[in-house]
Amino acid sequence: MEIKDLIRMGIKKLDRRKYSNPPLECVLLLAYLLDVDKTYIYIHNNEEVPSSVEDKYFSLIDERRKGYPIQYILKEKEFMGISFYIEEGVLIPRPDTEVLVQYVLDYIDEKYKEGDIKVVELGTGSGCISLSIAYYNKNVFVYSVDIDKKANAVAEENSRRLKLSDRVKILEGDLFQGIKNMGLKNSVDIIVSNPPYIPEDEIFGLQDEIKKYEPLWALDGGEDGLNYYRRIIPQSKEYLKNRGILVFEMGFDQGRKIKELMEKGNFRNINILKDLQGLDRVITGELFL
Ligand SMILES: C[S@@+](CC[C@H](N)C(=O)[O-])C[C@H]1O[C@@H](n2cnc3c(N)ncnc32)[C@H](O)[C@@H]1O
Repeated sequence: MEIKDLIRMGIKKLDRRKYSNPPLECVLLLAYLLDVDKTYIYIHNNEEVPSSVEDKYFSLIDERRKGYPIQYILKEKEFMGISFYIEEGVLIPRPDTEVLVQYVLDYIDEKYKEGDIKVVELGTGSGCISLSIAYYNKNVFVYSVDIDKKANAVAEENSRRLKLSDRVKILEGDLFQGIKNMGLKNSVDIIVSNPPYIPEDEIFGLQDEIKKYEPLWALDGGEDGLNYYRRIIPQSKEYLKNRGILVFEMGFDQGRKIKELMEKGNFRNINILKDLQGLDRVITGELFL
């Protein structure tokens, strides 16, 4: 079959799948199998495709029909203009998280004219937050902790590909346990975290793509979704400098409660930022020791 026939048939098969973009996904899947970029597919649409590739293409289309995320098939997701390697078992980076990264980069630009900046991330996942901050600011050193071995292996792979291993340390541990021997007491400029924050009884209402295939422990924030904030906020004062900042991603309706927790923990100048849909998504505060 020719490229254009495979694309047309693929679109038809994927047509009724929710949360998908069949024309783009078919082009991406075929480009992935033929090891070409997507422009090649558009330009060479009369080219004959080997039957072995045809079979693989239709089996990937079937996986997509069942809701398997395209990013796990392509093993790639773009975040902050950078291509991140990902695989099943590790959370797919979300566009809303770019709001958090952009805030941190702007804050550093404004506040730090020179010198090294120490950043800690809790809950590394693919490494998308830590690595993009380090990628776009050469003065940044990041200590990035995840409890999950698979996430750490993927983050290491991304760090290697982006040549950031000398400025991003990937550590295994339970939140601050991961940095306890790093000599970082009251010396960190910025702590960032996109912790699991979905209330446990909302997990089962998530769309199939997420619920069936993404790691749920990376999303489950306990009964009211706030378990991780309750742990991170009080402990962060052992590591942050006076007037260092804590920056969290959060659920759109969690701002008021997290603000209260931060105020109790001596954080001031608390700001809430909106995501791309205009919902509250990021909260930041400055520690006064
Ligand atoms: C919502 S994901 C965020 C991943 C990534 N930072 C991102 O923004 O795409 C939360 C991450 O926290 C990690 N995590 C969960 N419990 C943890 C703990 N107790 N200590 C360290 N990391 C933890 C999970 O493995 C997961 O990678």
